[in-house]
Amino acid sequence: MAGARESIHGQWSSRWMFILAATGSAVGLGNIWRFPYVTGENGGGAFVLIYLLCVAAVGIPIMMGETLIGRRGRQSPINAMRALALEEGLSANWRFLGWLGVVAGFIILSFYSVVAGWSVAYVFYVGGGAFAGTDATASAALFESFTGSALRVIGWHSLFMVMTGIIVARGVSGGLEQAVKWLMPALFVLLLVVVGYAMSTGDFGAAVNYLFAPDFSEVTGESVLAALGQAFFSLSLGMGAIMIYGSYLPAATSIPRTIGLVAVCDTGVAMLAGLAIFPIVFGFGLEPGSGPGLVFVTLTIAFGHMPFGQLFGALFFVLLSVAALTSAISILEPVVAWLVESFKWSRAKASSASALSAWVLGVGSALSFNEWADLQLVGKTFFDWCEFLSTTVMLPLGGLLVAIFVGWRMSQRSTMEELGVSDGFFYRVWRVLVQVIAPIGVLLIFGNALVIFLKDVGVLD
Ligand code: TRP
Repeated sequence: MAGARESIHGQWSSRWMFILAATGSAVGLGNIWRFPYVTGENGGGAFVLIYLLCVAAVGIPIMMGETLIGRRGRQSPINAMRALALEEGLSANWRFLGWLGVVAGFIILSFYSVVAGWSVAYVFYVGGGAFAGTDATASAALFESFTGSALRVIGWHSLFMVMTGIIVARGVSGGLEQAVKWLMPALFVLLLVVVGYAMSTGDFGAAVNYLFAPDFSEVTGESVLAALGQAFFSLSLGMGAIMIYGSYLPAATSIPRTIGLVAVCDTGVAMLAGLAIFPIVFGFGLEPGSGPGLVFVTLTIAFGHMPFGQLFGALFFVLLSVAALTSAISILEPVVAWLVESFKWSRAKASSASALSAWVLGVGSALSFNEWADLQLVGKTFFDWCEFLSTTVMLPLGGLLVAIFVGWRMSQRSTMEELGVSDGFFYRVWRVLVQVIAPIGVLLIFGNALVIFLKDVGVLD
């Protein structure tokens, strides 16, 4: 029965708190750092269109699925999957879906914290006037010299990981809720300011054209896979983050309406980030496909020229760091909840132990921009591999299993009850999406990318 269980970790104090927390999880570096640079690497408009399709047809239905599993199970993903599987008369091995999430979570948190550390560092660079009157070359040079210093990158990565660990240690209402209440709306407003600036000084027309006029000759199997991975990454899907947040959701809240709102906000912020960054890319003759440094190089140019840019710029990176923090805590939370449930650890102990492990892995990513830059496997650094394996492989795989579980293995009665809907139009559409469209979509995209990979390495011709 809905609401039959209670989570030992607490509950959101209202539906709004869940919306803020889930939006806080979804909106982060994925929207502002990753979306623009991955779009740039994949040629623009067609990629954006495929990304939007993936969000609507695959992401949102799976997001509802994750939330309903979480709320019905009221435990960490590993234990919730196990409990629900047994309740539905299925194998307890479904808990391995939770395990896949834990592994993916560690990898994501490790490199996420490194990039978030860049953002924290940039508060001080921009605020200190390092970019006043800068141009494309100087801005790129500063980024390279900063990320080229292993010590600095690791230092900021450490600071960010410590902050994440502390918030998670303080628990659902003490830590998580307080962090998201004010900062998410502020970020949104500041992003609008930057878009306004980019509209008036950059090449806005070229940016709109690049983002929204699809050129399908740019599309490859890999870019479709990248779009799918980005959809999962941005919506925080496929590793249990939304599931654990769902487990703190009050029983009476409507999942479809709540999740719909979160997904719209997340996608809106990504589009705004694109509209803030690409006018500057084209206006200043930068390369859209230049990789993970894109946001740091472009926005700083804008801040270096606009009135009060030092102030706005510092504020922007403060808010980006906070957005990253509200995402990072959702990546850590499932593991911590599991350690607390299964080993009766205190939240403080569970949180420090898991943050420390992710930190160690993150050092590898931090070194990928300096000492280990030449240490590459098929053209990818340690950082690139972490990002690729977790985002592009493990998240869609986790999502696929969620879709199969809620679509084919849970009874219709259970899913209908938990979604709070009757057997009408909405439910039928949702079911077709999780039963057929999402699984086939993920499998086709995976299959296609696998064939390309095998051709690349010469196994197929
Ligand atoms: N969605 C966040 C972002 O866009 C990152 C994130 C938080 C995430 N939780 C996650 C990514 C879980 C994958 C899985 O920045």
